[in-house]
Amino acid sequence: MCGIVGYIGKRDVAPLLLEGLQRLEYRGYDSAGIVITGKAAAGRPGTLKMVKAKGRVRELESRVPKRFAGTTGIAHTRWATHGAPSDENAHPHMDAENKVAVVHNGIIDNASELRTRLTADGVVFLSETDTEVLTHLIARAQADTLEEKVREALRHVEGTYGVAVLHADFNDRIVVARNGSPVVLGIGEKEMFVASDVAALVAHTRQVVTLDDGEMATLKADDFRTYTTEGSTTTATPTTVEWEAESYDMGGHDTYMHKEISEQADAVDRVLRGRIDDRFSTVHLGGLNLDAREARGVRRIKILGCGTSYHAGQIGAQLIEELARIPADAEPASEFRYRNPVVDPDTLYVAVSQSGETYDVLAAVQELKRKGARVLGVVNVVGSAIAREADGGTYVHAGPEVCVVSTKCFTNTVVAFALLALHLGRIRDLSVADGKRIIDGLRRLPEQISEILANEDEIKRLAAEYADAKSMMFIGRVRGYPVAREASLKLKEVSYIHAEAYPASELKHGPLALIEPAMPTVAIVPDDDLLEKNRAAMEEIKARSGRILAVAHQVQEKADHTIVVPKNENELDPILMGIPLQLFAYHTALAMGRDIDKPRNLAKSVTVE
Ligand code: M6R
Repeated sequence: MCGIVGYIGKRDVAPLLLEGLQRLEYRGYDSAGIVITGKAAAGRPGTLKMVKAKGRVRELESRVPKRFAGTTGIAHTRWATHGAPSDENAHPHMDAENKVAVVHNGIIDNASELRTRLTADGVVFLSETDTEVLTHLIARAQADTLEEKVREALRHVEGTYGVAVLHADFNDRIVVARNGSPVVLGIGEKEMFVASDVAALVAHTRQVVTLDDGEMATLKADDFRTYTTEGSTTTATPTTVEWEAESYDMGGHDTYMHKEISEQADAVDRVLRGRIDDRFSTVHLGGLNLDAREARGVRRIKILGCGTSYHAGQIGAQLIEELARIPADAEPASEFRYRNPVVDPDTLYVAVSQSGETYDVLAAVQELKRKGARVLGVVNVVGSAIAREADGGTYVHAGPEVCVVSTKCFTNTVVAFALLALHLGRIRDLSVADGKRIIDGLRRLPEQISEILANEDEIKRLAAEYADAKSMMFIGRVRGYPVAREASLKLKEVSYIHAEAYPASELKHGPLALIEPAMPTVAIVPDDDLLEKNRAAMEEIKARSGRILAVAHQVQEKADHTIVVPKNENELDPILMGIPLQLFAYHTALAMGRDIDKPRNLAKSVTVE
């Protein structure tokens, strides 16, 4: 989704901002723009210089004139919401006098009402965006300081925003504000940065301050201060970002997706590190804020997430039911928040999100908190909105995930759920022996992941074999079903091949009608108590001349091809069975020449409704 980057200091700002925008490209966008404060004598008004372009950041870069000098500026990558992708609709937006420039993430809900009012007052709009409304409100504000002007304008606005503002008459500062859309300040030596994502900052500073909703900040070259939208001062203590700038680079791979798939053994090692307690055959999850007595009182667990995180939550729910014997289920947060759910005091809610910023998940968490529920977060990005909104939780420690298509975060999130399930299980009825069995299984995962990844050439060959399919079916039973759903999502989002996922048990209730040679099936066939049932489903498909690619623990006779994966404990098998299908989706998309890291129409974090 949209990205913001800003800088104030002594360095030439345009190259810095363009580099920052490049680091935000992964979030998905359709146009970009930059505005800088031109050179001016101290205390005298500066001039704002702006360039915008539909398309990629490199298109913007090619339009930036040679003489574009300045040391303060803000820039943006836009994901269209109000108005099509175009030069005019790209941010920043300026007022008629070119004094105020605004970049904005989020959606202003009452934009059309405000636009009508401003138009009646004689304002001429140059774009179709909601953001331009905010620009004119700031420009027309009567207050004396930029901070007060922004505050005055925001008072009229309903909706979400992460916003950064430059004003030619106040050229020693950038004013920023947050409500529902991330804003992170980067604290440097006599220079300050701002961005919507730490990825744009870490090359320059790892000292950051994440604004809360309802918070604003003024950045000057050698100073910053934070305060609420009501004007009261807040305390902001910088924290250190865990990841080096290199973690955001491609590290010798051709795509981030390939890099991130390849990192999974290390990533899983990281989520396990320091958490296993062999003495009691359990794990410690420091941030849960849920003591043993409270954990015993939990009667039900409801997991909420979107997309891949929702699928990870489905596996998580099964793990919790199996290991802790607590009824658990997962639901898309995007549905949950709209159905006026019954919020039960004995239910523990778990919000799961890689970015920690997905709007539907955040809104579900806020609604739950408002109704008094206890919410845990299972999140990758440290300090993100969902992590901060939750009562406690655990980080999944996958490291930065740049590719829009989630891979290593899925795996690490499922492992984090296994840890949560084991922890809850050992507080309740899971035996020491079973606890030890699961711990041994968890410890085997990194090596087994490396084994799967070592089979990449074979998976690539199989991907080429199936790349002609117009449509594919993915099936699995119980533990295999969420694996099938996630694998089908991976294939469709990165290759654009239509893919359906069904419980294998449901085949004969309808989808079997689709089976024919041109509709191959990927079957998840773990070596567990349902093996024979899965074989029967494959038999039904073969009888209709369907092609089958099985992911299994042993070669399946009924399948045309089998990707054999190492066996772990039954409960942990889903963690491994999806990994070859990430590579399968990747190589299918590669063979088809797709834009792997930035699939069409998708964004990395969906911070709007
Ligand atoms: O950051 P989140 O985990 O909350 O994101 C949720 C989904 O938008 C995300 O998983 C999406 O489905 C990915 N494109 C999947 O690869």
